[in-house]
Amino acid sequence: MAAPNRRTACAIGGAPGIVQVESDDGLDLRVGQPAPALLPTDLVARHQAVALDRYGPAALAYGANAGPTPAREALAAWTAGAEDGHWTARDVFVTAGASHALALLCEELGTPDARVLVQRASYSVALDLLRRHQLRPLPVGTDDCVPTAAEFTAAARAARRAGERIAFAYLQPTFHNPTGRTWTTAQRRAVVEACADLGVTIVEDDPYRELHFGDPPPPSLTALGSLGPVIGVRTLSKVLAPGLRVGCLVGGAALRARLERAPLFASGGGMAHIGALAAASLLTSPEFPAHLQHLRVEYRERRDALLGALTPAAGAEARWERPGGGFFVWLRLSGGVLADTVEKLSARYGAHVLHGGPFRARLGDGGQAVRVSYSMHSAPTLATAGQTLARAITEASGRNRNR
Ligand SMILES: Cc1ncc(COP(=O)(O)O)c(C=O)c1O
Repeated sequence: MAAPNRRTACAIGGAPGIVQVESDDGLDLRVGQPAPALLPTDLVARHQAVALDRYGPAALAYGANAGPTPAREALAAWTAGAEDGHWTARDVFVTAGASHALALLCEELGTPDARVLVQRASYSVALDLLRRHQLRPLPVGTDDCVPTAAEFTAAARAARRAGERIAFAYLQPTFHNPTGRTWTTAQRRAVVEACADLGVTIVEDDPYRELHFGDPPPPSLTALGSLGPVIGVRTLSKVLAPGLRVGCLVGGAALRARLERAPLFASGGGMAHIGALAAASLLTSPEFPAHLQHLRVEYRERRDALLGALTPAAGAEARWERPGGGFFVWLRLSGGVLADTVEKLSARYGAHVLHGGPFRARLGDGGQAVRVSYSMHSAPTLATAGQTLARAITEASGRNRNR
């Protein structure tokens, strides 16, 4: 997650005003962005040059509204291959990342005051985006990450009985931001079937799937459902570079055709033209799987360093699950230990973490939690940050006991 106006120890070079998050000296575990050291500048430079060489001025003209065909083909082949899906370029619409795709879907599927079914904890910026489009997030179920099919059905029916319209369900079943957790195949199937029965469109956001540290995750909801009723939001931000601003919607030919005619694209053409052409070359080169493998090794090391250092703080009052991929660990606090206290103490000792509050679709819902991102720093730095956070947790628990 991007944290505007916050400075972090991510050591991104360059002059001020170039990047969203600039460097600082603290140990910052708030931001869920790729590590600067893992951004593949050489790879992107080479493939951008290939695109310019191959397409000449066409690489710099207004791009095809749905994105250039080679990019749609490459994105379709990559996503279908990684997810067990069966779609092709005709089902794919290129966007300027996942955030742009979500904004388009809010416009396309939303109506003022309509409900969007969401996990009880959800990507905070997506929640803000929904609200900005006058959509109202409706958290489903009792678990932070995994709602059951029965809970979906009950929530959707109750909303409709109250006269509310459901625009869609926004779900992240894989290496969830913020909890880091992943749904099983059975949980996925059950929710896809329940939503199909209810006539609720699923929007599945899946940015971290390829960053798995063991076996690949189960098939996506988009692969398990049928396109249209399930729409995939995909991005290259976490697996290549957010600055490329390339992502896509996998939603079937009808959605693609509808968006293609929209005035935004009729006026501006494809929103990520040169980036998408570079991505088309990169995604189809043998360098891409090698790069992914490198990222998996690096992020796994970072996760292990953080969790290793946190272990002394584990107990009844602070629990977490070991994420099998992605960028995040979700510390669940109980016994009166407050996220506020952990956040403040940890910051006082030099490591910054994020209070779980903004990830709650309903304010105050679901207990105290803290999100910790291990993506930005090297393993040794994370080990230090983890010790600092462990100290804060231990102290927060002790304080509580002594009150
Ligand atoms: C779940 C989720 N969706 C979307 C995004 C943003 O993706 P993009 O950079 O493609 O807009 C993020 C980034 O933090 C994320 O965690």
